[in-house]
Amino acid sequence: MTKITTCVFDAYGTLFDVAAAAREAAAEPGRGALAAKWPELAEAWRLKQLQYTWLRAITGAHTDFWSVTCDGLDFALEATGLQGDAELRDRLLQLYRELSAYDEVPEMLSRLKAAGFATAILSNGAPGMLMDAVVSAGINDRLDAVLSVEEVGIFKPAPQVYDMVGARFACRPEQVLFVSSNGWDVAGAAQYGFNTVWVNRAGDPIDRLPGQPQHILRDLTTIPDLAGGAA
Ligand code: LAC
Repeated sequence: MTKITTCVFDAYGTLFDVAAAAREAAAEPGRGALAAKWPELAEAWRLKQLQYTWLRAITGAHTDFWSVTCDGLDFALEATGLQGDAELRDRLLQLYRELSAYDEVPEMLSRLKAAGFATAILSNGAPGMLMDAVVSAGINDRLDAVLSVEEVGIFKPAPQVYDMVGARFACRPEQVLFVSSNGWDVAGAAQYGFNTVWVNRAGDPIDRLPGQPQHILRDLTTIPDLAGGAA
């Protein structure tokens, strides 16, 4: 059995709650139109943002994750009839830069560090937006690295992205525990050879893709226990 040395996390949806931007904006005074539609907006925003990453990777038309986040939002605003409000658009984008981390994240990362694991984010996010989110969640000191796909210029699940972990930590794929709430990301990481955890907060059906998760959890609380005994 190979021991896990390195715990690597997807960022958006896994450590950071991507629905928080639309939810928090909807709770602000004077946002009646958004209040009725924020779940629909958040879902369309996330879906388009991700679709654009895959399509840009396949077609070799890379741009950074901040651009596809803006493009996804513009699509979602129009799809929900909320286009044309520049102040709302700016506010949603501002909130996306300071997304809340899920409640269990700081303590879970502290436990991993105390147990001697290397910890990292491996994300599609552009370096600036990742740093903003990490700092606003107060978890910077619990991460050994924040790895952005901008270093390799293609989005997950391209294998060049997963290569960044071995390059940074000088570890083999079987020494890595990769944690993501995105089924397609877990599938890519499992195919690559990482040990994998799918965090399935919503009780979604499993993705029908090659590369199945080794573990499925409802939240991140038990990751340190799993890293200590897994693989
Ligand atoms: C990320 C996206 C996929 O953080 O959630 O890489």
